[in-house]
Amino acid sequence: GAVSAQTVGSSAPEVIGHRGAAGVAPENTVAAFREAVRSGAGFFEIDVQLSADGVPFLFHDSTPARTTNVAEVFPGREDDPITSFTWDELQQLEVGSAYAERYRGERIPHLDDAARAATPRTGVFIEIKSPQDSPGVEAVVAESLASVPEWQRLVARGKVEVIGFDAESNRRFAALAPQIPLQQLAGTVPDAAALEAVAEYADGFSTNYRSLDADGVRRIHDAGLEAAVYTVNSVEAYDQVAALGVDRVTGDFPRELVRHAKGL
Ligand code: G3P
Ligand code: CA
Repeated sequence: GAVSAQTVGSSAPEVIGHRGAAGVAPENTVAAFREAVRSGAGFFEIDVQLSADGVPFLFHDSTPARTTNVAEVFPGREDDPITSFTWDELQQLEVGSAYAERYRGERIPHLDDAARAATPRTGVFIEIKSPQDSPGVEAVVAESLASVPEWQRLVARGKVEVIGFDAESNRRFAALAPQIPLQQLAGTVPDAAALEAVAEYADGFSTNYRSLDADGVRRIHDAGLEAAVYTVNSVEAYDQVAALGVDRVTGDFPRELVRHAKGL
């Protein structure tokens, strides 16, 4: 039909694996990054925070309760901020078995583990997650991209972008690393004036696809920003946002979206 025809060919939105490929492997683990790479996605997305001793680690939630075995290793600390743990403590946590028993033993990755898992085809979207809990995280990420060879190579190929919900944090990052593509995240698309302000420091705008309509995509594009959406977990939703003219689609099942985007 007319809708699926729009999803085939060079204009099909690029696929981004969410938290790696959170639908098929434990989120924010090297196992999930490898799955995203195998899927042929253009990028995989990660969430970065800073440990109590300043090490950048990959983790979505603000506490360890949902995805780790914290109750066994550090009883009583289930609801402590994840950023109150040192890197050495984080490495004692196990983040695979809460997802599925066969992933038991997966550890919390270091930021640089994402660069090592990425390839020239499948790069990395680095989300600066809850930056108010990780003071200085923007500088740590910028310094890593500038000095770690695996990151330098990806940056040179245009395969690293930074994303975040916090506009002040995004502005700080843009000032530190103006050459790295940056996307503002928000649950809804604001008016044209607000998007013009975003375009002063960012290259893209990413929003929840459920709240997006054709006028929202037009406002994003009119501000000179790329349009991205999260979190799309069906081919029907992919077709829906493709028909709106969205440029990038983030989802938990990148293999299915890539196959669909290729018309397979
Ligand atoms: O790609 C953006 C998306 O990752 C934002 O939501 O909660 O999964 O970090 P969240
Ligand atoms: Ca995220």
